[in-house]
Amino acid sequence: MNKFLIAPSIIASDFTRLADEIAATESAGADWLHMDVMDGHFVPTITIGPLFVEACKRVTKLPLDVHLMISNPDQYLEVFAKAGANNITVHVETCPNLLETIVKIKSLGCKAGVTLNPLTPASALDEVLPIVDLVLVMSVTPGYSGQAFMPEMIGKVEEIRNKLNALRSQAWLEVDGGITADTLPLMYKVGANVFVAGNAAFKHPQGVAGGVRALRESVRV
Ligand code: DX5
Ligand code: ZN
Repeated sequence: MNKFLIAPSIIASDFTRLADEIAATESAGADWLHMDVMDGHFVPTITIGPLFVEACKRVTKLPLDVHLMISNPDQYLEVFAKAGANNITVHVETCPNLLETIVKIKSLGCKAGVTLNPLTPASALDEVLPIVDLVLVMSVTPGYSGQAFMPEMIGKVEEIRNKLNALRSQAWLEVDGGITADTLPLMYKVGANVFVAGNAAFKHPQGVAGGVRALRESVRV
């Protein structure tokens, strides 16, 4: 069994060949399919929604790791759960009643994740840390694939890893933004164990198979 998971981010794939890209991701040995839902409000970009998630669900067995970068996510939890999301991750910045939101995601039969923007301190997670299934640390300001990794986030991952260990939590610690074969080991070393990759996965010269392989081989476990 892998000691860490790789979650290619579907928005960096070629949508004209979506089913092929997903099949290649699966045979490359990726663990989850990361799906960046953006609403043009919480973040400037608009990407994909529940119809897209539902279409992907029909062609893959990979768990769908849905990252909601949308205002008022509470209104859409059910629809994403019905569309086939396995994990639903919400931003602390968008949830006035974070604890309730996490409980609601679990009640829908999904794994519940929480995430935070680079400028939001790790302490914003404290209330829900004991009950979440996943913590996602953004290592870019959310909005686009292909941005540069923020090395300041290494310390934040380490801080959250220490908090999870103190709680004896088994939650996944995922990182997202600018993850490459060079930056993955830096985050792995401080305790991250799920790696989202957009460009490094799908824009690799050997396609997603080469991208996943390079990420996998970037650390020896
Ligand atoms: C950033 C998204 C990421 C993005 C990652 O707003 O949440 O998941 O697609 O893309 P790369 O790996 O290219 O930075
Ligand atoms: Zn994401």
